[in-house]
Amino acid sequence: MPVYSKKVMDHFMNPRNVGVIENPDGYGKVGNPVCGDLMEMYIRVEKDIIKDIKFKTFGCGSAIATSSMVTELALGKTVDEALEITRKDVAEELDGLPPQKMHCSNLAADALHAAINDYKKKKK
Ligand code: FES
Repeated sequence: MPVYSKKVMDHFMNPRNVGVIENPDGYGKVGNPVCGDLMEMYIRVEKDIIKDIKFKTFGCGSAIATSSMVTELALGKTVDEALEITRKDVAEELDGLPPQKMHCSNLAADALHAAINDYKKKKK
């Protein structure tokens, strides 16, 4: 059994910002090739600042915890700042993930970046 930090358990049991934003300014969907899990991310942006962010994850507990954490990290940041959030940042903010679960944390940052890139594409 992998050992999870308190923060991972907290975000897994009480995930923040779960849901959907209708007509989002940016939308990203990524799949995890390792396990087949799926994550969707929605952002509402005003003046390049992320004002609202929601996610839906069809994945494991670590995927839920990392998505929840990434939404907290991204909220209130500019889109360019949020693009700088790395997979490593997310895992570190959660006080680490078991090594066999690190691949799950990739999904959250990737979905966020996909949503931001979608926003940037639409803006052009
Ligand atoms: Fe699929 Fe964790 S096992 S994201």
